[in-house]
Amino acid sequence: QITALTAGSIGKDGYRHYMEKELHEHPLVIGQTLQRMIDPATRKVVLPDLPFDLATVPRAVITACGSAFYAGMVGRYWLEEIARLPVDIDVASEMRYRDPPLTTGSLGLLISQSGETADTLAALRSLREKAIHILSVLNVEHSTMARESDVMLGTVAGPEISVASTKAFTAQLTVLACLTIATARARGTLDPLREEELVAALMDLPSRAAEVFNQGNAIRKMAAIVAEARDVLYLGRGSMFPVAMEGALKLKEISYIHAEAYAAGEMKHGPISLIDRTVPIVASVPSTPLFDKTLSNLQEAKARGGRLLVFTDTQGADRVSAIAEQIVVLPRVHDFVAPILQTIPVQMLAYEVAVLKGTDVDQPRNLAKSVTVE
Ligand code: G6P
Repeated sequence: QITALTAGSIGKDGYRHYMEKELHEHPLVIGQTLQRMIDPATRKVVLPDLPFDLATVPRAVITACGSAFYAGMVGRYWLEEIARLPVDIDVASEMRYRDPPLTTGSLGLLISQSGETADTLAALRSLREKAIHILSVLNVEHSTMARESDVMLGTVAGPEISVASTKAFTAQLTVLACLTIATARARGTLDPLREEELVAALMDLPSRAAEVFNQGNAIRKMAAIVAEARDVLYLGRGSMFPVAMEGALKLKEISYIHAEAYAAGEMKHGPISLIDRTVPIVASVPSTPLFDKTLSNLQEAKARGGRLLVFTDTQGADRVSAIAEQIVVLPRVHDFVAPILQTIPVQMLAYEVAVLKGTDVDQPRNLAKSVTVE
């Protein structure tokens, strides 16, 4: 159970918008969330006592809305690959109508910043009726979802004022990464050396996240191109696909530019017909094992006149800069935590575009911070 929200003060602290301030809190929030979940003496992930056994849970069903749903998509990659736990995932507003067949004793994993989103809450209640254990990843400690869950893992993101979620998202990913390690340990799919390696990658993250802000100028150059566009295509593969979805959502929410995210390999099955110089392509391509395949998708887009704006890392920079019009070079981190690091600059890009467009960044039209209708 989270006890106090220590990140962030109320007030803009000299930043132009709450969103800018909250973006700068990423390193702090990731660090505070890790402090909550990793014992510094043993460097082991420690979860609160659970009223069920992670070793024998047959399946997890993840559900959430908006950015929290994309965090859940990254969580699915991790839980399946590292903990070998079968995962079903859907947006909360659809989960109930699908009525997926679930074995008693499965795990419902709900993710929400506010803990009040009506669709997520309704999904939680319908999972409960099926005798599913409910574990919620929440930022607001005294929320309805917190009260109605069997157990809560807190994201220590502090108050998030900007309607568009930023730091809560990376805090959700941090919790899901820790949950994956604990689940994998319980299920015997993680040897101690690999566990040490994954924990070290997480502990290294706050410092690497702080380095992302050195890329402000490069991100603003990209923003100048995106701000002129009417449509933008975001691409990513594997755990970078949800990062692309988060980037596209953020751009739509605050700049009102139409953006679509596609799994990079799926581009050739449709959206490639849209590509020309007027549709910039934003891609997240760190040097993971999916680097080569994603790069070849980008080459296909370039061959059709696409302007490539690419987030990569120090190891991938040379090969990416050979084909891209603008690149942002991030620190090279362990593949496991790459989606967390890569999220920060795509959110920063959306922010800079919105500033150029002069929109009401913190209070975008038609959106609410917490949506309490279904
Ligand atoms: C609203 C917000 C989104 C947020 C979503 C889920 O639509 O505009 O930024 O991701 O709700 O909110 P939650 O509080 O459940 O994470």
